Amino acid sequence: MPDTGPVRSLDAKYYIDPKIYELEKAGLLAQTWQFACHASELRNVGDYYTFDLAGESLFSIRGRDGVIRTFYNVCQHRAHQLVEGQGTTRVVVCPYHAWTYELTGHLRAGPNTNAIEGFDKSKICLTEVRTEEFLGFVFVNLDTEAKPMDDWFPNVRSELESFVPNWADLAPLEWVEIPENCNWKVSVENYSECYHCQLNHPTFSTGVIKPETYDIQPQGYCLRHTTESNALDQMSYDINSGFDNNEKYSSWFLWPMFSFQVYPGNLLNTYHWRAVDADHVVVWRGWYSVGGNDNETVRKMALQDRATTVEEDIRLVESVQKGLKSRGYVPGPLVVDPKCGVNSEHSILHLQRWMREAVAN
Ligand code: FES
Ligand SMILES: [Fe+2]
Repeated sequence: MPDTGPVRSLDAKYYIDPKIYELEKAGLLAQTWQFACHASELRNVGDYYTFDLAGESLFSIRGRDGVIRTFYNVCQHRAHQLVEGQGTTRVVVCPYHAWTYELTGHLRAGPNTNAIEGFDKSKICLTEVRTEEFLGFVFVNLDTEAKPMDDWFPNVRSELESFVPNWADLAPLEWVEIPENCNWKVSVENYSECYHCQLNHPTFSTGVIKPETYDIQPQGYCLRHTTESNALDQMSYDINSGFDNNEKYSSWFLWPMFSFQVYPGNLLNTYHWRAVDADHVVVWRGWYSVGGNDNETVRKMALQDRATTVEEDIRLVESVQKGLKSRGYVPGPLVVDPKCGVNSEHSILHLQRWMREAVAN
């Protein structure tokens, strides 16, 4: 008999089994668009930025043509790592035997390589990774066949631009690092429903948004959150930015591990979930201002958010992770309201479908 009852939440194994996490690392992380860095880290020709993804070291670098490219951080001679951290360089020089590469990844020269019979340096190039700039944010996808971000996340670029018209002037002002003792999916799910907000986020629910107008809808592999902000006199800060949409809150969660969030007043901030292992994730919160210059409102919001919503959520997700390990836990039904709205978990339904798909093969 097919089970016709309500859709139940995912089995606990998805959140606690290290084998599932390994499958995600090999598959999901290598086949989805992942945040690399903010383009302001690569302002000038030759600026590079190193980062890890799916167990690989990679680096993004700005070429002489202004294009940001990303390469596996491995020399095509005998595999030494090429660069570390961030910096700027005219050419990429391998520290092992000094083979040098152009900013396009092509081999430029190597000591005594002319002595090699049949050597054709034009055939040697660093291995490039798909890279896209998305309103000043650099994303990469290790899957060479991946569809562009605009296919994965339809309309997000234009919507976000209408909320953050000055995106090209922004740079990071603050990064807040939040280690959480839970699986990355527990944290992402918690971010992706507001059924828990009224009970657990008093500041957010009364000082930032209007819960009765909150909704989350899928848009390709994006989950779009929308709500109106609270009555202006109840706002915890001044939202007069001079831009359209300044009275709204919205967020665009890009499956699987990144979210753009815009607070009333057109304040852009981001989430980047970095999975550590099955039981740990570090959430990087980014806060942006014009030129990365000091900005009292942005700092105040970053502090308020850290002290309230973030702190409140840590307790929730860590308790859930413990609960998922309990022999007494049987996954319960998702509260899917056909009318959607703030007290519905329809967004979790979509998310858990993607989570299942990610490890299905
Ligand atoms: S491994 Fe890079 S130059 Fe030899
Ligand atoms: Fe929350």
